[in-house]
Amino acid sequence: MREAQIPIYAGLTDELLEQAGLAYADPRQATARISQLRKKYDADSVRAAIELVTARAKARLKFPEISERFYGDVAGVEMASSWAVGKHKAKRFTGQARVWDLCCGIGGDMLSIKGVAGEVIGYEMDALRAWMCEKNTGCAVEVCDVIERQWVDGVFHLDPARRENDWGGKRMWHYEDLQPGPEFIERLVEKNRGGCIKLAPSVYAEDLPFECELEYVSERGRLVQGIAWVGELAECEKRATMVDGEEVHELCGGEESLIADYIGGESRYLYTVDPSVERAGLMNELAERTGLKVVHEKLGLLTGNATVSDPFIRGFELIETMGWKETRVKRWLAAHDGGLVEVKTRGKVVNPDTVQMRLRGKGETVYTVFILRKTKQIIAYITRRLGSI
Ligand SMILES: C[S@@+](CC[C@H](N)C(=O)[O-])C[C@H]1O[C@@H](n2cnc3c(N)ncnc32)[C@H](O)[C@@H]1O
Repeated sequence: MREAQIPIYAGLTDELLEQAGLAYADPRQATARISQLRKKYDADSVRAAIELVTARAKARLKFPEISERFYGDVAGVEMASSWAVGKHKAKRFTGQARVWDLCCGIGGDMLSIKGVAGEVIGYEMDALRAWMCEKNTGCAVEVCDVIERQWVDGVFHLDPARRENDWGGKRMWHYEDLQPGPEFIERLVEKNRGGCIKLAPSVYAEDLPFECELEYVSERGRLVQGIAWVGELAECEKRATMVDGEEVHELCGGEESLIADYIGGESRYLYTVDPSVERAGLMNELAERTGLKVVHEKLGLLTGNATVSDPFIRGFELIETMGWKETRVKRWLAAHDGGLVEVKTRGKVVNPDTVQMRLRGKGETVYTVFILRKTKQIIAYITRRLGSI
């Protein structure tokens, strides 16, 4: 697939890429600049140059140090693991003599795995991405459909596509939608020593018909990956991981302890929790580690009477609790020097952007208002961020 495009990408000159970069940087001039380029270069080269500079711009956040020489198509970069997340995952492949990177795409994961394992070989059905991956990683990549090969007694990394077609399209979130799909994955798990399967963060343990450690990774506060570790690469049952550049924090859990044992209503301080923890089902482990309680099963908040610090939580002092009624909350804020207001909610109970504009007052005090559905009632917690008081 897409072999014909390899010589086009290989032939892109610095001058064309520079011109395409200018077109990308100034959308108002883009059409005029692209028409100019078409007079000098063939249409395929211009199209490829625009795709590459757009992909490089998208790669800036994921691969900051190498984005300017990175090869990718836009969907390939969007699907790639960032360098920081890739580095965290790669640690578990340390010392492996050989790793198969199945469905390696443009090499986001491979970039890190190659630094810790003896030999890393990529396998990718799209010839253009395979070529890009080789350029990015310096590793060998075979163009093939992984389903047609036998994979036995090895260690693998598998990142199935989660798009409705190979070059982009709608994102698919269910285990059954992965390509290659469940039958291939389950055979791979059964026949090999160990491996890692990158999944959407929406996949739950109940969806997976094999034993694994399920790790959820957030990057800069956003859930980005669910990862199933199998065989000798699995270490515990569940793990929540926060990645922010070089900074990585992890929380592991095993035997199910009941969240109900940790429910405690609201105390003086509320703590929001990184999304990886709730998704991994580790609220109770975090409550135990921090000495806090869970406010309510569905609210994703911890609470306690002491100020506690932990990388997975952000603290707020609870000042007032009331049933949610906009006029009532607004009145309270106005009577308490309310100025800028930050609204936090979940499950689309309100539109936080519009409500925080409407609650904003003329005072000096910055408040954070949580508007949440607690059982049948919608409640408002009026709080102030710890550290801002
Ligand atoms: C999610 S991307 C891989 C991203 C990669 N891990 C990274 O970090 O850059 C999935 C890739 O799998 C490839 N793919 C899908 N089905 C395949 C198959 N049956 N055999 C080989 N490659 C396949 C797609 O072309 C796509 O490039």
